[in-house]
Amino acid sequence: MTTPLDAYWMPFTANRQFKSAPRLVSKAEGMHFTTPEGRQVLDGVAGLWCVNAGHARPRIVQAIQAQAAELDFAPPFQMAHPKVFELAERLVQLTPSGLDKVFFTNSGSESVETALKMALAYHRVRGEGQRTRLIGRERGYHGVNFGGISVGGMVANRKMFGPMLGGVDHLRHTHDPVRNAFTRGQPEHGAELADDLERLIALHDASTIAAVIVEPLAGSTGVLVPPRGYLQRLRSICDKHGILLIFDEVITGFGRLGSPFAANHLGVTPDLMTVAKGLTNGCVPMGAVFAQRFIHDAFMTGPEHLIEFFHGYTYSGHPLACAAALATLDTYAEEGLLTRASDMAATFEAAVHSLAGLPNVLDVRNMGLVGGIELAPIPGEPGKRAFAVFLDCWEHGVLVRNTGDTIALSPPLIIEPHHIDQIIGTLAQAITRAA
Ligand SMILES: Cc1ncc(COP(=O)(O)O)c(C=O)c1O
Repeated sequence: MTTPLDAYWMPFTANRQFKSAPRLVSKAEGMHFTTPEGRQVLDGVAGLWCVNAGHARPRIVQAIQAQAAELDFAPPFQMAHPKVFELAERLVQLTPSGLDKVFFTNSGSESVETALKMALAYHRVRGEGQRTRLIGRERGYHGVNFGGISVGGMVANRKMFGPMLGGVDHLRHTHDPVRNAFTRGQPEHGAELADDLERLIALHDASTIAAVIVEPLAGSTGVLVPPRGYLQRLRSICDKHGILLIFDEVITGFGRLGSPFAANHLGVTPDLMTVAKGLTNGCVPMGAVFAQRFIHDAFMTGPEHLIEFFHGYTYSGHPLACAAALATLDTYAEEGLLTRASDMAATFEAAVHSLAGLPNVLDVRNMGLVGGIELAPIPGEPGKRAFAVFLDCWEHGVLVRNTGDTIALSPPLIIEPHHIDQIIGTLAQAITRAA
């Protein structure tokens, strides 16, 4: 007997299309999913940018099982358990220096809300409570909660939901196919787009602006690689005006570009940094916000028996998530996975750019183990061509991701050259068939 599909309202899914031809996976190991019929599907997207060490890694599985039996839950407010401190200490060894305080959440979206609230409250506790404005960027994705969609810049994620947060503005996006199409790695052109922050400062005055949030490499909007020098310039403008810089590293964190974080990789240190996904290898929901010590310390005033920051979640630092994260960090360390994308980047880059001459390919973008192949939309039917490519790849045993008319690739960091060949070969055939 098969289970009816009716009751489940699926997230970010074309529900009617899915239910007419469901795509189910029921097992996973290493680089592959298995469908209920026993078909193997190569995972070209690390689940959803999260299974960085590959699926069902024994150390992580065992850690979660053991933790569930030992301590299933510990209250996180005014109480704690040992592993949450151990995890925090381990994590700050990986971050750029200064980012040495960690606040735990359960998702990327919650990390974003937490970082935005930290930025606002930080200015307030140090007597600059008029700094309430938050600046995001066009085409940015920062999850789906109200703060995140307010600073985010993806129209479909915003237009249904009313006025959102007040006092938000947006930088111009950095996508410039006229000057940068088919660039390998970071584009040469576009550092000056960071000066758009000066325009917003001239409009609003720096004294009203709390923080700027950007993804160092924008994923969900179709893989936008930062132009050379862009993030450095944003950093120096923020410094000049006392504005906090937040990096949303929910997809770039934990080795995606070839260093533990994009901040290490690109040599730009933000004031706050959000992560999730690869933190637990996708096994147990968990997110985190890293804060510069000076931000944390600004809160540590007033009577010692009082709560300093009125924020947190029932499941902040959940024991199962901590156990999964510690075992994930061990796996990353043992196998050198946080820098493996650097070793694989040249092979991956060559393979992804081999798609350049295929029909309707408008642009190919890449960095570390991230690839984006932008296709020409079918006139009047945006997104349909990339969706057809996604379905075709799935039917031929490879999972890719479509966002708009871009195909995004973000494979597990354990990927080997023959997997790259299979992903690119399958994708090439699908793109050709979708012409
Ligand atoms: C940059 C970025 N921020 C935030 C999120 C939201 O994360 P979550 O889906 O865990 O809430 C995502 C998810 O893809 C993301 O890519």
